[in-house]
Amino acid sequence: MHPSTPFTRREALALGAVSLSPLLDAKAPPARHGVVVAVSPPGAEVGCAVLKRGGNAVDAAVATALALAVTYPSAGNLGGGGFMVIHPAAGKGSPAVIDYREKAPASASRTMFTKKDTIYSVKAVGVPGTVSGLALAHGKFGKLPWKAVVEPAIALAEEGFLIDLQLASSLNWVTNGRQVTPEMRRVLAKANGKEDWEAADRLVQKDLASTLRRIRDRGAEGFYKGETAELIVKEMRAGGGLITLKDLESYQAKQRTPIHGTYRGHDVYAPPPPSSGGICLVQMLNVLETFDLRKDPRFSARTLHLMAETMKRAYCDRARHLGDQDFVKIPAHLTSKDYAKKLAAGIPMSKATRSEDLAKDIPLRTEGDSTTHFSVVDDDGMAVSTTTTLERSYGSRIVVRGAGFLLNNEMMDFNWFPGQTTRDGVIGTEANLVAPGKRMLSSMTPTVVSRDGRVVLVTGSPGSRAIINTVLNVVVNVIDYRMDMRQAVDAPRMHHQWFPDTLHFEGVAEHEATESALRAMGHRVVGTGQGDAHTIGLHPRSGRYVGAEDRRINGKVAAF
Ligand code: DON
Repeated sequence: MHPSTPFTRREALALGAVSLSPLLDAKAPPARHGVVVAVSPPGAEVGCAVLKRGGNAVDAAVATALALAVTYPSAGNLGGGGFMVIHPAAGKGSPAVIDYREKAPASASRTMFTKKDTIYSVKAVGVPGTVSGLALAHGKFGKLPWKAVVEPAIALAEEGFLIDLQLASSLNWVTNGRQVTPEMRRVLAKANGKEDWEAADRLVQKDLASTLRRIRDRGAEGFYKGETAELIVKEMRAGGGLITLKDLESYQAKQRTPIHGTYRGHDVYAPPPPSSGGICLVQMLNVLETFDLRKDPRFSARTLHLMAETMKRAYCDRARHLGDQDFVKIPAHLTSKDYAKKLAAGIPMSKATRSEDLAKDIPLRTEGDSTTHFSVVDDDGMAVSTTTTLERSYGSRIVVRGAGFLLNNEMMDFNWFPGQTTRDGVIGTEANLVAPGKRMLSSMTPTVVSRDGRVVLVTGSPGSRAIINTVLNVVVNVIDYRMDMRQAVDAPRMHHQWFPDTLHFEGVAEHEATESALRAMGHRVVGTGQGDAHTIGLHPRSGRYVGAEDRRINGKVAAF
């Protein structure tokens, strides 16, 4: 069957589509002109307003990212980093990646962390990349003036916005928690912690508005030089952190060539190292392409087994080889179809491979939600897929005094202890050890899939190492199992990351027989929630784009 042939109802049921809701979700009709899907409703609305004013997908993505720094402080950020995949409209050029991953400061070293170090300290902060990345993306690909994409975030911070129940609970949780710093309490707790936030309260962030104004007026220099930079360095000095004015001044986001793969007639674009996302995703799709997945339903033991075995092999290679490409040589074979055939040939059909049997060369020892993804497509068909993070929820919990924003704890993503790779999933391999100026390995996988040059799917997710597999699940749902966007996002997901040797499957309750069959093959199956994939897809009949927010968390489709 041709990959874009829609399913009959019977086929859809047999293949395990999660709902038989009509292809078009009544709440998310196809967008005529443009669509933004993001976790935070006011963030998505800012992006949509920018599209309405004539901005392109990059203008909307930059404005959304800045708005999320105000309206979704657990992950939206100025003090973190991320990756943006930009896919032009059909026939208008090649896809590009903006890498704005944080870097280790110049005085960092491979043995700088000890078992006593905590993730909530200035030492865990990487040199932030977000503002440089957004300025680079806008400068190269945006259409509207820079001020026009920064102003909406300033207004949200200066005048405040009405928070919803999810944000109220999140803020209460973090500001009443043990790790809260006094400045974080001052900036993000209600009445300095004397009261709890409720839905429809107004959150105003004056210091953040001032920082954003400096960014509006001076571009990236408004962050990396002058007052903002000095405030960051002051915060570092107060806690014994490593970032200097020179580290900030020399930070530069990079435009990189995306990892490009093909899957059953589609083109897949995702970030290259320092993200592991593109290489792992393409490697896994190459392996899965050698099997006829549709021979069996989506939630059959065979499909899940093949996906889990594929994931283990890709994540093992991830640990073995991947790190910042500016520092380590990444083998080219990882994304080749020939290598995928070899890996596929090694997958036993009825038995789980033990993770430790995959990498005899790597010595083993015994031993929350903080990222966000949003998707944009504009009137022309240009798409932007962005994932951004502070690493942990609310990052290091350190708010730069007087500047109103949180700092990341992205140094966590380096392999902290050389040589220590454990069955619990700690990795100590060489490629991702700390070095001065090096970017830490990421799993962020903002992805765009196109067919004959036209964008058909924009997706990505938070979820640390599970991110890549969340994207893989969505791609398989759409391409192999022809699910519509709502079904593809709702469908239970699965994840295996080599170590721990555990298969996470959201669908254990509905698919008991599959779970027992997987256990019988030797998989250790646990039911775990996975990801938050705000996705846009091309509706095959109308030729328009449909957004699907991920209802596992929160989110909004803003379209016009
Ligand atoms: O870059 C990475 O892969 C991680 N710092 C992302 C962290 C994350 O997704 C946690 N959120 N759920």
